[in-house]
Amino acid sequence: MDKSTIVCRCEEINIDEIESAIKMGAHTFDDIKRITRCGMGPCQAKVCTNLMQRIINELTNKPLSDIGPSKMRMPLRITRIGALAGGKESSSVISVFNESAPKEGEANND
Ligand code: FES
Repeated sequence: MDKSTIVCRCEEINIDEIESAIKMGAHTFDDIKRITRCGMGPCQAKVCTNLMQRIINELTNKPLSDIGPSKMRMPLRITRIGALAGGKESSSVISVFNESAPKEGEANND
């Protein structure tokens, strides 16, 4: 593959940048993520994980089974700021954090 081939479409990170990070000592997905931002885009590494794992495997000779995905962070899906502020869409945010949250119109006695 050409060194300019994009690995992470969201953050526009190419193979050359990944290889540089590995040469600097990064050997896990999270190490590379911290250096390059690969995997930090809107898809949260859903698109680039497999390719990243293969590149790490090729350059470090680490078995694919030992190369985990990057750590996931909240929110687990795209959330509108209005929902976080308690607006009309708040039920979509509550479902991420607490499935047993009260329905709209119900009192919350916490
Ligand atoms: S393609 Fe890498 S974060 Fe989306």
